[in-house]
Amino acid sequence: MMDLLIPDKTHDESRQGEALMLKAEAAKNNGRKLYIESYGCAMNFSDSEIVASILAERGFETTSDYSVADVIFINTCSIRENAEQRVRNRLKEFTVAKVKNPGLVVGVLGCMAERLKSKFLEEEKLVDVVVGPDAYRDLPNLIDQVDDGQKAVNVLLSREETYADISPVRLNSNGINAFVSIMRGCDNMCSFCVVPFTRGRERSRDPLSIVAECRDLFDRGYREVTLLGQNVDSYKYSTTGEEVITTNFANLLEMVALINPDLRVRFSTSHPKDITDDVLYAINKYDNICNYIHLPVQSGNSRILDLMNRTYDREWYINRIDAIRRIIPDCAISTDVITGFCSETDDEHKETVSMMDYVKYDFAYMFKYSERPGTLAAKRYADDIPEEVKQKRLTEIVAKQQEYSFYRMQARIGRVERVLIEGFSKKSDKDYCGRSDQNAMVIFPVGENYKPGQYVNVLIERSTTATLIGKVVE
Ligand code: SAH
Ligand code: SF4
Ligand code: F3S
Repeated sequence: MMDLLIPDKTHDESRQGEALMLKAEAAKNNGRKLYIESYGCAMNFSDSEIVASILAERGFETTSDYSVADVIFINTCSIRENAEQRVRNRLKEFTVAKVKNPGLVVGVLGCMAERLKSKFLEEEKLVDVVVGPDAYRDLPNLIDQVDDGQKAVNVLLSREETYADISPVRLNSNGINAFVSIMRGCDNMCSFCVVPFTRGRERSRDPLSIVAECRDLFDRGYREVTLLGQNVDSYKYSTTGEEVITTNFANLLEMVALINPDLRVRFSTSHPKDITDDVLYAINKYDNICNYIHLPVQSGNSRILDLMNRTYDREWYINRIDAIRRIIPDCAISTDVITGFCSETDDEHKETVSMMDYVKYDFAYMFKYSERPGTLAAKRYADDIPEEVKQKRLTEIVAKQQEYSFYRMQARIGRVERVLIEGFSKKSDKDYCGRSDQNAMVIFPVGENYKPGQYVNVLIERSTTATLIGKVVE
């Protein structure tokens, strides 16, 4: 399947002339096909849409079949060792395509490209081009260099780049939900984390360009945007000029919510040290800002949180949870947890378990600690928890979370949820699926009076640990 990808609208009126020219250029298909595969967080998937847009302007079509591609890009993640291993295995599979088509360009983008830089070219002979997350505007040049027979690398990080003016080409889109990047990089130095090294300094994107992108999405039929950043609560943008206007995350949420009450607004990720009551009040004030917060705890023990350099302790985190419960009645909360961080004792692990008992999270992503080269933890602390202990602790919290996910789902039975229909359910085209305000997946029978992209009220009749099941009511 091949589809011609042309950015069909621009955010910024003043750039319309330029955009029309680009559109005309894009229409001049260069006859080459781009295949792009993404790993890691939503940020990476969103970046791939920027990459597709930059190359669409140069006449590249995207394809979902790598065997017919002229350029294969793999947008990579370094967060844990197994994420990198997955990418290396996948690259091996592209070797066959390269043998068949020696003109094929293979590129590594994203966090692993940034972490390994030109070393990648030595380690993986198949790779022609290595490009870090802030260098995507240079891609057309870099491809030209490869066409001229060279290998090409650009891993420069930037303090300014936000790709604010680029209208992402929506890849694999259902035309209903979209990611919108609001900031890049991260200035926190969580000791376990590679992101500050792979994505550079934190910088926020101009709020007007964010609102314009969201409005454009709404006009094109999209009904849900997820605002993305590693730490959205520290979003901050000041205009230059005589009268300086500063927009914080609470302001930005309101600006996006006001585009239209039928546009749902979600966001990820919040940081416990930065999430303010103002943000919580904004969520409560607007029905279309979803009652769902992803608030990674990492550990429930204050000594471990200190070693992790998370800059909050157990009491602070509990205080934020209490504030959410107080200000936003009926707010779903999810989290990230790491088990077996350096020197974690059984008793300290138990405090993570007791945090789960306290919050009763709706959902959690749980990981074993994986030491990442170059991070503060790798330099300062021994990765001294045996693999079996990490695994045992992980298994324990996964089981615990199953219980609480089920508990939260069961609590919805008998209630009516407002659901944005996303499409057919995975299992059957007799059912639709969509998400509730609290981000739960809801399944209900297909009907004549509603279709994907619309909202319906669903009476919840039963649940599994991950899904609510019900029927549409008036
Ligand atoms: N910016 C987000 C997280 C981005 S990474 C935040 O601050 O919460 C997503 C998750 O991966 C983290 O929350 C953490 O739980 C996990 N993670 C990051 N580095 C890890 C490592 N070295 N080992 C195991 N899990 C890790
Ligand atoms: Fe990594 Fe911490 Fe930044 Fe999240 S806030 S990306 S965990 S350094
Ligand atoms: Fe992975 Fe980079 Fe995201 S390391 S989690 S793709 S910011």
